[in-house]
Amino acid sequence: MELVTKTEHFSSNKAQYFLNDYYRALTDSPARFYSVPDSIETLKEIRLIEDDWMTCEEGKISEEILPSNNGEFLDWYRKKLKLLNKNISGFLDYIENEAPASAIAYYVCMEELVDGSFDDIMALAQLGVHNESKMAIAENYWDEMGKGQFSQIHTEMFSESSSYCKKMLADLALKLPNEIPTECLMNGNLVTFWSLRRKFIPRLYGAIGLIEGSAPLRFRAVTKGMERCGFPESAIAYHREHIQIDAVHGKEWLHRVLIPHIENDERICQEIARGVLIRFSIAENYYTSVEAIVRDRCT
Ligand SMILES: [Fe+2]
Ligand SMILES: [Fe+2]
Repeated sequence: MELVTKTEHFSSNKAQYFLNDYYRALTDSPARFYSVPDSIETLKEIRLIEDDWMTCEEGKISEEILPSNNGEFLDWYRKKLKLLNKNISGFLDYIENEAPASAIAYYVCMEELVDGSFDDIMALAQLGVHNESKMAIAENYWDEMGKGQFSQIHTEMFSESSSYCKKMLADLALKLPNEIPTECLMNGNLVTFWSLRRKFIPRLYGAIGLIEGSAPLRFRAVTKGMERCGFPESAIAYHREHIQIDAVHGKEWLHRVLIPHIENDERICQEIARGVLIRFSIAENYYTSVEAIVRDRCT
């Protein structure tokens, strides 16, 4: 892994690759402990890029009226979940009703390029948490672990689906982009960044809420699209499972993690809300970029 040490603007492809390499190394197998970047220069470079990124994202949301308490948050948050799915509904309709099999496979493979290990994010989300929230996060994590059955571990199920999709693309001589688009890198990097820099944990909580809460509609679109195109059940299973399970996770995350943390504390409420808003904009850009690529390459 090569880590450059020259400050790039955070929104450049190079800077986002730099962050991505760093986060991957930090969450790599313990057996590769020797390759974890640890020099002051590298850490400083990472910090500068991350700080610039946050300054820019905070600027974009500075006009938003943030919720201050549980009551305001609930209403505000539900509207954001709905709005995200509304804003990407064109893409979801396309996947569900129109896209050829190759486009669905292409989308799944694009997701895999930057889909860090969500179970590790969940593990990092529980540090320092107590009581009911600890249990809710533990239950979510246990679901990620397939409730103890190896073949049901979500990352295993996802790789079964993506392996099928990769083979389909290879058979059709369809290649993924040579370089991962910046919007995709940002989408993957954001949650790993927030899970590793502990100051940003409330933002991670907001982002996880948005991810879990908005996921069922996306998984439903992929499941229906795959059924329509005759994908085998082994490739569909992961997506089908998440229609239900993320509906549960979304509700549990809201009521057992977000609300108890907010407890009418304006400061954490607003920080969670910033996480929701920043994630919202990064996710929206990600889906716009993926849709354009998928439609362009898989007609
Ligand atoms: Fe999952
Ligand atoms: Fe989930």
